[in-house]
Amino acid sequence: MSTPHIDAEPGAFAETVLLPGDPLRAKHFAEAFLDDAQQVNSRRNMFGYTGLYRGQRVSVMGSGMGIASSRIYATELIRHYGVRRIIRVGTCGGVGDVALGQIILAQSASTDSNINRIGFGGHDFSAAADFSLLRQAVEAAENLQLPVRVAPIFSTDSFYDGDPNIVKLLRQHHILGVEMEAAGLYALAQREGVQALAILTVSDHLETDAHLSGDEREQGLGRMATLALECAAH
Ligand code: HPA
Repeated sequence: MSTPHIDAEPGAFAETVLLPGDPLRAKHFAEAFLDDAQQVNSRRNMFGYTGLYRGQRVSVMGSGMGIASSRIYATELIRHYGVRRIIRVGTCGGVGDVALGQIILAQSASTDSNINRIGFGGHDFSAAADFSLLRQAVEAAENLQLPVRVAPIFSTDSFYDGDPNIVKLLRQHHILGVEMEAAGLYALAQREGVQALAILTVSDHLETDAHLSGDEREQGLGRMATLALECAAH
């Protein structure tokens, strides 16, 4: 079996998939955190792996950047491979009162993308994390003694040349982070009757231009992967 974008065998993915944007990060997570990891997808070099974490089957796969790419992979994982739980792990730009390196559990995701409106009859869709997955992530963070903030974020289609007033608007609405996938994943998951959550590390601050060093970024991503896996193994 294969889909237009995934050439894995039927049953190759676990019910829970961690979804970083970068396929090489998926490879790194699989090698660093999973036992007996097998590569299950290589089409377009969007590497996917399935292995064991604390004896439970978990997969990790790259999604590419942006709602368009990540929804293609998430849709095929859900509809063709029986995936029931998607945990995006990625970085975000910080807004307002949020520190570099802070982990954010994205409770809701506003967006400048039109994709949810198109799928929702032209109405505004309220894209939100699955509550029980969010609660599991909060509990896993408490067990790991990892400080997290549960907060609204913003998913943008434009990394460059977006709305010049957006940062001010986001701050006015107490939105803490900007990334490029969560709103699309949340709406897709709700429509498909599966669970989704985005766990994000603040890698740069959009008002101060401060950013994490390469090492700090890797440490942050490692902490996030552990949190996502503990949440998955709950
Ligand atoms: N914009 C969009 N996505 C991001 C950013 C950003 O500033 N930082 C990390 N991911």
